[in-house]
Amino acid sequence: MGKIHVITGRGGTGKSTLTALMARFLATSSLLLIDLDPDGSLAKMVGANLEEEGKWTISDALYEVMGKGRETKDIPDLLRQKMEDGQILYRGTKFDLISLGTKLAQGCYCLPDEMMKELIRNLNKNYEMVLVDSPAGLEHLNRKVTPEIDDLLVVMDPSEKSAKHIERIKYVIKGVNIHYQHFYLIGNYRFTEEAEVSLLRSGERYLGRIANDPWVREYNLKGISLFQLPEEAPSSLSIKKILREAGYDLVS
Ligand SMILES: Nc1ncnc2c1ncn2[C@@H]1O[C@H](COP(=O)(O)OP(=O)(O)OP(=O)(O)O)[C@@H](O)[C@H]1O
Ligand SMILES: [Mg+2]
Repeated sequence: MGKIHVITGRGGTGKSTLTALMARFLATSSLLLIDLDPDGSLAKMVGANLEEEGKWTISDALYEVMGKGRETKDIPDLLRQKMEDGQILYRGTKFDLISLGTKLAQGCYCLPDEMMKELIRNLNKNYEMVLVDSPAGLEHLNRKVTPEIDDLLVVMDPSEKSAKHIERIKYVIKGVNIHYQHFYLIGNYRFTEEAEVSLLRSGERYLGRIANDPWVREYNLKGISLFQLPEEAPSSLSIKKILREAGYDLVS
Protein backbone atom coordinates (compact mmCIF):
# COMPACT_ATOMS: atom_id res chain seq x y z
CA MET A 1 0.00 0.00 0.00
CA GLY A 2 1.28 3.45 -0.87
CA LYS A 3 1.78 6.02 1.82
CA ILE A 4 -0.89 8.73 1.64
CA HIS A 5 0.21 12.26 2.48
CA VAL A 6 -2.45 14.97 2.54
CA ILE A 7 -1.62 18.68 2.18
CA THR A 8 -4.23 20.91 3.75
CA GLY A 9 -4.70 24.48 5.00
CA ARG A 10 -6.67 27.65 4.49
CA GLY A 11 -7.26 29.22 1.07
CA GLY A 12 -4.23 30.57 -0.76
CA THR A 13 -1.68 29.44 1.82
CA GLY A 14 0.47 27.68 -0.79
CA LYS A 15 -0.83 24.09 -0.59
CA SER A 16 -0.68 23.39 -4.32
CA THR A 17 2.77 24.97 -4.63
CA LEU A 18 4.02 22.76 -1.79
CA THR A 19 2.40 19.66 -3.33
CA ALA A 20 4.03 20.40 -6.70
CA LEU A 21 7.46 20.87 -5.15
CA MET A 22 7.06 17.75 -3.01
CA ALA A 23 6.28 15.86 -6.21
CA ARG A 24 9.47 17.25 -7.68
CA PHE A 25 11.86 16.72 -4.78
CA LEU A 26 10.64 13.53 -3.07
CA ALA A 27 12.44 10.36 -4.05
CA THR A 28 9.80 7.75 -4.85
CA SER A 29 9.74 4.87 -7.27
CA SER A 30 6.09 5.59 -8.08
CA LEU A 31 4.01 8.60 -7.23
CA LEU A 32 0.32 9.42 -7.65
CA LEU A 33 -0.87 13.02 -7.35
CA ILE A 34 -4.49 13.69 -6.51
CA ASP A 35 -5.97 17.11 -6.98
CA LEU A 36 -9.09 17.40 -4.84
CA ASP A 37 -9.47 21.09 -5.55
CA PRO A 38 -12.19 21.82 -8.13
CA ASP A 39 -10.04 24.65 -9.50
CA GLY A 40 -7.61 22.00 -10.74
CA SER A 41 -4.52 24.20 -10.55
CA LEU A 42 -2.10 21.44 -9.54
CA ALA A 43 -1.81 19.93 -13.02
CA LYS A 44 -0.43 23.14 -14.47
CA MET A 45 1.98 23.59 -11.57
CA VAL A 46 3.52 20.19 -12.28
CA GLY A 47 3.50 20.70 -16.05
CA ALA A 48 0.72 18.22 -16.82
CA ASN A 49 -1.61 19.33 -19.58
CA LEU A 50 -4.69 17.18 -19.05
CA GLU A 51 -6.64 18.69 -21.94
CA GLU A 52 -3.84 18.21 -24.44
CA GLU A 53 -3.56 14.58 -23.37
CA GLY A 54 -7.33 14.20 -23.67
CA LYS A 55 -7.67 13.23 -20.01
CA TRP A 56 -10.88 13.67 -18.10
CA THR A 57 -11.32 14.80 -14.55
CA ILE A 58 -13.53 12.67 -12.31
CA SER A 59 -16.38 15.15 -12.68
CA ASP A 60 -15.92 15.30 -16.49
CA ALA A 61 -16.34 11.55 -16.53
CA LEU A 62 -19.38 11.69 -14.26
CA TYR A 63 -20.88 14.44 -16.37
CA GLU A 64 -20.37 12.36 -19.48
CA VAL A 65 -21.99 9.22 -18.11
CA MET A 66 -24.81 11.10 -16.40
CA GLY A 67 -25.40 13.22 -19.49
CA LYS A 68 -26.07 10.02 -21.36
CA GLY A 69 -28.99 9.36 -19.08
CA ARG A 70 -27.48 6.32 -17.38
CA GLU A 71 -28.88 5.15 -14.11
CA THR A 72 -27.00 6.29 -11.05
CA LYS A 73 -26.40 2.69 -9.99
CA ASP A 74 -24.46 2.07 -13.24
CA ILE A 75 -22.15 5.01 -12.77
CA PRO A 76 -19.44 3.31 -10.68
CA ASP A 77 -19.07 0.56 -13.31
CA LEU A 78 -19.00 3.04 -16.16
CA LEU A 79 -16.39 5.10 -14.44
CA ARG A 80 -14.33 2.05 -13.70
CA GLN A 81 -14.44 1.35 -17.41
CA LYS A 82 -13.26 4.90 -18.19
CA MET A 83 -10.45 4.37 -15.73
CA GLU A 84 -9.43 1.11 -17.34
CA ASP A 85 -9.59 2.75 -20.77
CA GLY A 86 -6.95 5.20 -19.55
CA GLN A 87 -9.34 8.13 -19.86
CA ILE A 88 -8.87 9.49 -16.33
CA LEU A 89 -5.35 8.70 -15.14
CA TYR A 90 -2.68 11.08 -16.47
CA ARG A 91 0.61 9.24 -16.77
CA GLY A 92 3.80 11.25 -16.51
CA THR A 93 7.43 10.25 -16.10
CA LYS A 94 7.85 11.26 -12.45
CA PHE A 95 4.18 10.97 -11.40
CA ASP A 96 0.66 10.04 -12.41
CA LEU A 97 -2.20 12.43 -11.68
CA ILE A 98 -5.95 12.39 -11.14
CA SER A 99 -8.03 15.51 -10.81
CA LEU A 100 -11.48 15.81 -9.21
CA GLY A 101 -12.48 18.61 -11.58
CA THR A 102 -15.09 21.24 -11.60
CA LYS A 103 -18.01 20.36 -13.81
CA LEU A 104 -20.35 19.48 -10.99
CA ALA A 105 -19.32 22.43 -8.86
CA GLN A 106 -22.87 23.59 -8.36
CA GLY A 107 -24.18 20.29 -7.14
CA CYS A 108 -23.19 17.97 -4.37
CA TYR A 109 -19.72 16.49 -4.53
CA CYS A 110 -20.89 13.26 -2.94
CA LEU A 111 -20.70 11.19 -6.10
CA PRO A 112 -17.31 12.45 -7.36
CA ASP A 113 -16.00 12.11 -3.82
CA GLU A 114 -17.24 8.54 -3.62
CA MET A 115 -15.56 7.78 -6.94
CA MET A 116 -12.34 9.41 -5.83
CA LYS A 117 -12.42 7.46 -2.59
CA GLU A 118 -12.79 4.20 -4.45
CA LEU A 119 -10.11 5.13 -6.97
CA ILE A 120 -7.66 5.96 -4.20
CA ARG A 121 -8.46 2.65 -2.51
CA ASN A 122 -7.89 0.74 -5.74
CA LEU A 123 -4.91 2.65 -7.06
CA ASN A 124 -3.06 3.01 -3.81
CA LYS A 125 -1.48 -0.43 -4.08
CA ASN A 126 0.17 0.50 -7.40
CA TYR A 127 2.13 3.40 -5.92
CA GLU A 128 4.78 3.89 -3.31
CA MET A 129 3.40 7.31 -2.45
CA VAL A 130 0.18 9.28 -2.94
CA LEU A 131 0.12 13.07 -2.47
CA VAL A 132 -3.29 14.69 -2.05
CA ASP A 133 -3.65 18.42 -2.70
CA SER A 134 -6.75 19.64 -0.86
CA PRO A 135 -9.16 22.47 -1.54
CA ALA A 136 -9.18 25.35 0.95
CA GLY A 137 -10.64 24.64 4.36
CA LEU A 138 -11.70 21.48 6.08
CA GLU A 139 -14.72 20.37 4.13
CA HIS A 140 -12.70 17.69 2.31
CA LEU A 141 -11.73 16.17 5.66
CA ASN A 142 -15.42 16.04 6.54
CA ARG A 143 -16.06 14.25 3.29
CA LYS A 144 -13.50 11.64 4.28
CA VAL A 145 -12.07 11.12 0.83
CA THR A 146 -8.94 9.81 2.56
CA PRO A 147 -9.88 8.22 5.89
CA GLU A 148 -6.42 6.70 6.43
CA ILE A 149 -3.61 9.24 6.21
CA ASP A 150 0.08 8.68 6.82
CA ASP A 151 1.22 12.30 7.02
CA LEU A 152 -1.15 15.24 7.33
CA LEU A 153 0.75 18.40 6.38
CA VAL A 154 -0.99 21.61 7.39
CA VAL A 155 0.20 24.78 5.67
CA MET A 156 -0.38 27.65 8.05
CA ASP A 157 -0.64 31.36 7.37
CA PRO A 158 0.30 33.90 10.03
CA SER A 159 -3.21 35.24 10.62
CA GLU A 160 -4.69 34.81 14.06
CA LYS A 161 -7.33 32.49 12.74
CA SER A 162 -4.69 29.95 11.93
CA ALA A 163 -3.98 29.12 15.56
CA LYS A 164 -7.65 28.26 15.90
CA HIS A 165 -7.31 26.38 12.67
CA ILE A 166 -5.08 23.77 14.35
CA GLU A 167 -7.72 23.14 17.00
CA ARG A 168 -10.46 22.97 14.40
CA ILE A 169 -8.59 20.54 12.19
CA LYS A 170 -7.92 18.25 15.12
CA TYR A 171 -11.54 18.57 16.21
CA VAL A 172 -12.86 17.68 12.73
CA ILE A 173 -10.43 14.81 12.31
CA LYS A 174 -11.37 13.34 15.64
CA GLY A 175 -15.07 13.91 15.01
CA VAL A 176 -15.13 12.12 11.67
CA ASN A 177 -12.71 9.44 12.76
CA ILE A 178 -9.90 10.06 10.30
CA HIS A 179 -6.66 8.35 11.27
CA TYR A 180 -3.21 9.73 10.63
CA GLN A 181 0.31 8.70 11.58
CA HIS A 182 1.90 12.17 11.70
CA PHE A 183 0.50 15.67 12.04
CA TYR A 184 2.92 18.30 10.71
CA LEU A 185 2.70 22.08 10.69
CA ILE A 186 4.43 24.15 8.02
CA GLY A 187 4.70 27.95 8.07
CA ASN A 188 3.75 29.45 4.70
CA TYR A 189 5.68 32.07 2.78
CA ARG A 190 4.02 34.94 4.64
CA PHE A 191 5.45 33.93 8.01
CA THR A 192 8.10 36.07 9.61
CA GLU A 193 10.59 34.78 12.14
CA GLU A 194 8.59 36.44 14.95
CA ALA A 195 5.31 34.93 13.83
CA GLU A 196 6.99 31.55 13.57
CA VAL A 197 7.38 31.46 17.35
CA SER A 198 3.66 30.69 17.70
CA LEU A 199 4.12 27.54 15.64
CA LEU A 200 7.25 26.53 17.53
CA ARG A 201 5.27 26.83 20.75
CA SER A 202 2.13 25.15 19.46
CA GLY A 203 3.08 21.79 20.93
CA GLU A 204 2.69 20.25 17.47
CA ARG A 205 5.48 19.00 15.22
CA TYR A 206 6.61 22.07 13.28
CA LEU A 207 8.71 21.41 10.17
CA GLY A 208 9.74 24.94 9.23
CA ARG A 209 8.78 27.83 7.02
CA ILE A 210 8.54 28.12 3.25
CA ALA A 211 10.54 31.06 1.90
CA ASN A 212 8.80 33.93 0.15
CA ASP A 213 9.91 33.45 -3.43
CA PRO A 214 9.24 35.86 -6.32
CA TRP A 215 10.12 33.02 -8.74
CA VAL A 216 7.16 30.98 -7.48
CA ARG A 217 4.81 33.92 -7.93
CA GLU A 218 6.07 34.51 -11.44
CA TYR A 219 5.98 30.85 -12.50
CA ASN A 220 2.46 30.39 -11.12
CA LEU A 221 1.28 33.58 -12.75
CA LYS A 222 2.71 32.61 -16.12
CA GLY A 223 1.61 28.99 -15.81
CA ILE A 224 5.18 27.64 -15.92
CA SER A 225 5.73 24.25 -14.30
CA LEU A 226 7.34 24.40 -10.86
CA PHE A 227 9.46 21.45 -12.00
CA GLN A 228 11.46 24.11 -13.88
CA LEU A 229 12.07 26.25 -10.82
CA PRO A 230 15.82 26.69 -10.20
CA GLU A 231 17.27 24.30 -7.61
CA GLU A 232 18.67 27.29 -5.73
CA ALA A 233 15.35 29.17 -5.64
CA PRO A 234 14.49 30.13 -2.03
CA SER A 235 11.30 28.06 -2.11
CA SER A 236 13.13 24.99 -3.44
CA LEU A 237 15.76 25.22 -0.71
CA SER A 238 13.28 25.80 2.12
CA ILE A 239 10.92 23.05 0.99
CA LYS A 240 13.76 20.56 0.71
CA LYS A 241 14.80 21.45 4.24
CA ILE A 242 11.22 20.94 5.46
CA LEU A 243 10.95 17.57 3.71
CA ARG A 244 14.25 16.41 5.23
CA GLU A 245 12.99 17.51 8.63
CA ALA A 246 9.99 15.21 8.17
CA GLY A 247 12.37 12.37 7.32
CA TYR A 248 11.46 12.00 3.65
CA ASP A 249 14.08 10.85 1.14
CA LEU A 250 14.85 13.44 -1.51
CA VAL A 251 16.04 13.11 -5.07
CA SER A 252 19.73 13.78 -5.31
N1 LIG B 1 6.76 30.35 -1.52
C1 LIG B 1 6.00 31.28 -2.13
N2 LIG B 1 6.47 32.53 -2.34
C2 LIG B 1 5.72 33.46 -2.94
N3 LIG B 1 4.45 33.26 -3.36
C3 LIG B 1 3.91 32.04 -3.17
C4 LIG B 1 4.64 30.99 -2.54
N4 LIG B 1 3.85 29.89 -2.48
C5 LIG B 1 2.69 30.25 -3.06
N5 LIG B 1 2.72 31.54 -3.46
C6 LIG B 1 1.64 32.28 -4.14
O1 LIG B 1 0.50 32.25 -3.33
C7 LIG B 1 -0.66 32.05 -4.13
C8 LIG B 1 -1.39 30.81 -3.66
O2 LIG B 1 -0.56 29.68 -3.87
P1 LIG B 1 -1.17 28.22 -4.08
O3 LIG B 1 -2.09 28.19 -5.24
O4 LIG B 1 -0.05 27.26 -4.03
O5 LIG B 1 -2.03 28.14 -2.74
P2 LIG B 1 -3.22 27.16 -2.35
O6 LIG B 1 -3.20 27.05 -0.88
O7 LIG B 1 -3.10 25.91 -3.14
O8 LIG B 1 -4.48 28.00 -2.85
P3 LIG B 1 -6.00 27.48 -2.94
O9 LIG B 1 -6.53 27.48 -1.54
O10 LIG B 1 -6.64 28.49 -3.82
O11 LIG B 1 -5.93 26.10 -3.53
C9 LIG B 1 -0.18 31.96 -5.57
O12 LIG B 1 -0.30 33.22 -6.18
C10 LIG B 1 1.27 31.57 -5.43
O13 LIG B 1 2.07 32.02 -6.52
MG1 LIG C 1 -4.52 24.90 -4.33
